[in-house]
Amino acid sequence: MSKLAIIGAGAVGTSVAHWAAVKGMAEEIVLVDIVPDLARGKALDLAQGAPLEGFTGRILGTEDFSALSGSEVVIITAGRPRKPGMSREDLLRTNMEIVRSCAEEVRKYAPESILIVVTNPIDAMVYVAFRVTGFPRERVLGMAGVLDSARYRYFLAQALGVSPRDVQALVIGIHGDHMLPLVRLANVAGIPVTELLAPEKIEEIVERTRKGGGEIVSYLKTGSAFTTPGLATAEMAEAILRDQKRVLTCSVWLEGEFGLSGVFLGVPVVLGRGGLERILEFRLTEEERQALEASAQAVRSQIALTGL
Ligand code: NAI
Ligand code: 2OP
Repeated sequence: MSKLAIIGAGAVGTSVAHWAAVKGMAEEIVLVDIVPDLARGKALDLAQGAPLEGFTGRILGTEDFSALSGSEVVIITAGRPRKPGMSREDLLRTNMEIVRSCAEEVRKYAPESILIVVTNPIDAMVYVAFRVTGFPRERVLGMAGVLDSARYRYFLAQALGVSPRDVQALVIGIHGDHMLPLVRLANVAGIPVTELLAPEKIEEIVERTRKGGGEIVSYLKTGSAFTTPGLATAEMAEAILRDQKRVLTCSVWLEGEFGLSGVFLGVPVVLGRGGLERILEFRLTEEERQALEASAQAVRSQIALTGL
């Protein structure tokens, strides 16, 4: 039986469960949250959509982490959003303790699972989960590149007046101000966007992509994006559960790829039954290489703060 577990039944966790149910990705979907009854309520609400949408899998919610048992994929979305007056470092320390405790439960109850971490700051939190579980790098992935690339593709499609499906583009590096929306490789049905849009317009889109999360926070005011983050996470889980060999940008532990080691960073990978099956390394220009190095440095500073 295929089983997907989601830790954290907040905005993102519930969105992942929703997309996973609609896509029929697993025979059982479990939501786990420490707030008593919260996951139970969210799961029941979602399950009651079955007669309308037609999905058939079981959807359960609980505060008992033993429900992770038997999960092929576990997703950690548990964490706190940044509050006014809170620095990124404060957030890192708070969420680190949450991710650490969740990762311990994953190691205990789902030692063979593939883990996807969503909690921010993502590239440092996935490192915490990697260290705490002791899982091989193939089974510990961070979600951000799929979301950032979707935002980039959407903004390009809007500017071009074409279907977002026909825009291919990727964002690599850290999930933060130093992310790299690659311009050279962005294309519309194979045609480089540099042939179709003015450089100033492309630069505007690159900047908007880098600040994509902040733009949504500025509108929502009480939280951050959750619908597309949930879908992006579900895409990763689906690629693994259905062994799709999808090429998706994920934050993974680098061991020499792109000339970088000892750091989690968003790069394109092949996702299948084994989790990270291959990193698709390609040649960067000198400018891109330097920008990726800056990204890596920013993640290394965050990793240093974890003390792990
Ligand atoms: P939320 O506040 O709606 O949900 C978080 C949930 O985690 C809450 O229900 C809370 O009770 C639960 N939780 C806290 N500690 C827990 C523990 N020890 N065990 C189980 N559950 C626990 O937050 P939201 O909007 O769902 O965001 C979750 C995280 O995802 C945040 O850190 C956010 O910054 C991050 N995020 C990351 C994205 C990315 O691209 N990587 C995109 C969007 C959000
Ligand atoms: C985002 O990019 C908050 O990291 C989250 O929307």
